[in-house]
Amino acid sequence: MTLGIEVERLEKHYGDHRAVDGVDLQVPVGTVLGLLGPNGAGKTTTVRMLATLIPPTGGRATVCGYDVATQPRQVRELIGLTGQYAAVDKDISGRDNLYLIARLLDLPKKRAWARVEELLERFDLVAAGGKLVREYSGGMRRRLDLAASLIGDPKVIYLDEPTTGLDPRSRNGLWDVVRDLVAEGSTVLLTTQYMEEAEALADSVVVMDNGVVIASGTPAELRARVGGQTLRVKPVHPRDLVAVVDALAGVRLAGHVDHEAGLVQLPISGSADLTDAVRAISESGLAVSAIDTSTPSLDEVFLTLTGKQRGAVELQR
Ligand SMILES: Nc1ncnc2c1ncn2[C@@H]1O[C@H](COP(=O)(O)OP(=O)(O)O)[C@@H](O)[C@H]1O
Ligand SMILES: [Mg+2]
Repeated sequence: MTLGIEVERLEKHYGDHRAVDGVDLQVPVGTVLGLLGPNGAGKTTTVRMLATLIPPTGGRATVCGYDVATQPRQVRELIGLTGQYAAVDKDISGRDNLYLIARLLDLPKKRAWARVEELLERFDLVAAGGKLVREYSGGMRRRLDLAASLIGDPKVIYLDEPTTGLDPRSRNGLWDVVRDLVAEGSTVLLTTQYMEEAEALADSVVVMDNGVVIASGTPAELRARVGGQTLRVKPVHPRDLVAVVDALAGVRLAGHVDHEAGLVQLPISGSADLTDAVRAISESGLAVSAIDTSTPSLDEVFLTLTGKQRGAVELQR
């Protein structure tokens, strides 16, 4: 497995403040890592260190084998960065912005224009290319910003909260672009506050809070970590609620009654539990109007992991 990004015990301390405090990350080439965390978690600080914009105060990070601290020039040649806030000039056109960057990257004039037109096309900005950027919508700005970061044809792309504040349609458009980039072999580090975005794009997810990693794995693994599913059984007659609990107890499953909702709920950890529960209910002969299971939503997983708010999953138990 070749690593596009490797981070070991990376630190950024500002005086006593530990913005990033010993983070480990591994991003194989051609994959997307979702770096997930609430505001202030340390995501941008991590990205800025990986982009050689600020020096780490401890630990080590490499991009395609090049050390960000000792080989910044090589690292810069490999990376593209799209920041949380657009880095383009609002007072010139989108086309001119891209051309300027292409020239800054030393592309000869003809190649520069060709690259600009190619990117405008790819990001659906051909028609808007001649307009001043200040007239762009939020989604157009983000697309232009991403296009700008791709001019140098980077192998490794950092996207820092690329869809925060975008409407769902623009967000989906940006997701498609990211998927295309990955299909072409790019390695992507994406920061986000949205578990849903991580699940849509990321091969693996690292959850940060207060400068440290608090969980990592695939989105599915994170869901499983927070808790399995909840089974709900609703008897036709509320008077049967206790009988449902008794029937479940017969197969060693502990249900509790939710009188208000008129149902019995219980945590289940796998398909064996589910089969046992359904069989027990069926053998009891009780009339049941609904049996269903629910998986915690990704936002519930996030809230539970970061503890910013007690997750609905916990509250149900
Ligand atoms: N230049 C700085 N000086 C002091 N503290 C900083 C500086 N930059 C960031 N921080 C602090 O580091 C923490 C992490 O910030 P940041 O990386 O921007 O978080 P995120 O991107 O996850 O919202 C925050 O508490 C922030 O206030
Ligand atoms: Mg940030």
